[in-house]
Amino acid sequence: MATTGKAGAQKAAAGSAPGAPATVLVIHGPNLNLLGQREPEIYGHTRLGDIDRSLKQLARELGLKVEIFQSNSEGAIVDRIQQARGRARALVINPAAYTHTSVAIRDAIAGCELPTVEVHLSNVYQREPFRHHSTIADIVAGRIMGFGAEGYLLALRAAKRLIEAEHTAAGA
Ligand code: DQA
Repeated sequence: MATTGKAGAQKAAAGSAPGAPATVLVIHGPNLNLLGQREPEIYGHTRLGDIDRSLKQLARELGLKVEIFQSNSEGAIVDRIQQARGRARALVINPAAYTHTSVAIRDAIAGCELPTVEVHLSNVYQREPFRHHSTIADIVAGRIMGFGAEGYLLALRAAKRLIEAEHTAAGA
């Protein structure tokens, strides 16, 4: 496949070689390592490991590769997003509490040039007003919230659509 310019070089490096599954980076933000134990009445009983297993299973079915990263640290999340630039083809992210505060994560997403799906387990609009603001809402392709752990699987399906749409738009 002929690829030209910066975008083409990035796509070639990002798993678009014939037969190579496209990589989707999934990021879980702070406190999500405690899923299943933390406020189960809000976030449910499913543990993060169960979500990650389901994501890997669905990725296999969809012909994708997932890389999954959890951190309680804003800087570590920024570093991981930067590493995905030119390597992954889409980003699925639940920035958790950083959703409402982090300009650094917003800038990292804007700079990584990856189609991005924002996920929240809970419907943040049914909760405290400070959760209604997202620093990334206007730069992501779409947002999925209120469906609990299932939201991550919906997000992975959406990421696949976004990758396919980019592929089509590139005339590949
Ligand atoms: C969350 C919602 C955030 O407001 C909260 O800080 C979280 C989880 C969610 O998935 O519903 O930690 O992102």
